[in-house]
Amino acid sequence: MGQKKLIKFAAIKEYENVLEYPQDMQGKWAAFFDALGKNKSPIDIANLAVSDDTLLATNPTPTNKMALNKPLTLELACGRGEYAVGLGRMFPEQNFIGVDLKGNRIWKGASIANKEGLKNIAFVRSQIELTPNYFAKDEVDEIWITFPDPQLRWSKAKKRLTHPKFLRLYQQFLKGGVGKSKDIKEVTKNNNGIDIRGIVHLKTDSPLLYNFTLKVIELYGLNLLYKTDNLYAEATIDPRCLIKTYYEGLDIAQSNKIHYIKFNIDKELPIALDDILKETIKDIPMDAGELLRMEAEAARAKKE
Ligand SMILES: C[S@@+](CC[C@H](N)C(=O)[O-])C[C@H]1O[C@@H](n2cnc3c(N)ncnc32)[C@H](O)[C@@H]1O
Repeated sequence: MGQKKLIKFAAIKEYENVLEYPQDMQGKWAAFFDALGKNKSPIDIANLAVSDDTLLATNPTPTNKMALNKPLTLELACGRGEYAVGLGRMFPEQNFIGVDLKGNRIWKGASIANKEGLKNIAFVRSQIELTPNYFAKDEVDEIWITFPDPQLRWSKAKKRLTHPKFLRLYQQFLKGGVGKSKDIKEVTKNNNGIDIRGIVHLKTDSPLLYNFTLKVIELYGLNLLYKTDNLYAEATIDPRCLIKTYYEGLDIAQSNKIHYIKFNIDKELPIALDDILKETIKDIPMDAGELLRMEAEAARAKKE
């Protein structure tokens, strides 16, 4: 392993704003960000207060109130965390967590947050598959999935981060999901008037992943809020969508278009439909740009 990578791995171990495979964090993020903001070091995770909506009703402590006042947003497959950092700068009254497996990438976003003193941004190094272990029911307000690997091979479809297998995981902690206490149809806005509650955003340059995700939304009857296969050609653009990530700059898919979908995971996702999905997605074509991408990705993965 390269020396630079080792230095970055060692650095994030010392950063208060990076947690690697954290234990016992469910329901504690409001208290964690409170401690981060007060420059506590080290942060005593075991003794952080748990706060959730139920607790708020019975125990309206300042920490519990803070949990409701400061919405929590995740950036999944965050890489260097451009969205976690960009949104953290835009919305100082909200908290943001980037999740990625690769410590050397997370190091970049975590270092920027430290340098700029942004205490509303943190990172979790882990597989996304483990996220239900880290967040309590209703603890997360919204999710951004930014340029995830499209997993172009049909046989790898279950690894796509918008496959129902993953959506079922997100439902366990995202507000407004099935059987949850909050009704997503009751619009909940942040202080800037932007709807955030229970929303999943996907930004990708992969037409295949875009079309796959639309099929999932259609087949499982999910609430589609917005879609475009050419974001920057839209008459009005959500300013959050203007944040550019490292992979966006690479334009690996060579589609020359950024695709964007905004939706709720507001229905049960019956496992019985997964087989139908498997059949349906065989028809989604992969264009020449996507093939180029697959080759470029394979070459990049070999180098890393
Ligand atoms: C194509 S990169 C995109 C990074 C960043 N969002 C960007 O746009 O520059 C995909 C990222 O997803 C991460 N990733 C892929 N599968 C993952 C998983 N199951 N759990 C955690 N991270 C994952 C990779 O480590 C990688 O950093």
